[in-house]
Amino acid sequence: MSLRIAPSILSADFAALGHAIAAVERGGADLIHVDVMDGHFVPNITIGPPVVSAIKRVARAPLDVHLMISDPDRYIEAFAQAGASMMSVHREVLPHLHRTIHAIKALGVKAGVVLNPATPIASLEDIAADVDYVLIMSVNPGFGGQTFIPHSEAKLRETRALLDRARSRAVIEVDGGISLHNAARVVAAGAQVLVAGAAIFGTSDPERATLDLRAAATGGIAAPR
Ligand code: DX5
Ligand code: ZN
Repeated sequence: MSLRIAPSILSADFAALGHAIAAVERGGADLIHVDVMDGHFVPNITIGPPVVSAIKRVARAPLDVHLMISDPDRYIEAFAQAGASMMSVHREVLPHLHRTIHAIKALGVKAGVVLNPATPIASLEDIAADVDYVLIMSVNPGFGGQTFIPHSEAKLRETRALLDRARSRAVIEVDGGISLHNAARVVAAGAQVLVAGAAIFGTSDPERATLDLRAAATGGIAAPR
């Protein structure tokens, strides 16, 4: 399974999303990560299905929609219609996770489960065979530009081991504080999809930053000191 880079448009200029997406696609972005926040599960409010539809019209890369909302069951159909290719939902808000994961798949969308930093990976055991991917949060969700929580590296390793034990084919994605400094380490720990917001859109050249992140993740360029 090859590495995929998923720039998070949360840190892009919302008045120029089309340009932001085109830039990272020139830089080789594999996915466009879209952070949906409801001001309830997380303190921030971002975007909804109409904006995802608009992005879908201009993006060539598949849309990876991360739902940080209290009631995802109510909205998965709308986000599927808006053009999500992948959709992830938080373990913390779903007592009937199995049903939600299968509802996402029934819409023809890849289904992922997300764990917050303090959510134990043991909660993956009984869903590992059903999900297409597991998203490990390496910051507490809600905002871009936060610092990577060091324990996430061990958590990635433990997640890979758990998925292997369960003979799950789920891919591991990591989200939060990913940069040139830790990209190679999270890949070594088992991450196959790297989400990055500030490290890409917080720079003056998101196209270059996308290329650099892939190079750093695959050991091509050393992280600056
Ligand atoms: C955080 C979001 C992330 C965020 C990552 O709540 O889920 O996707 O955009 O941003 P950085 O890479 O800046 O931590
Ligand atoms: Zn995210």
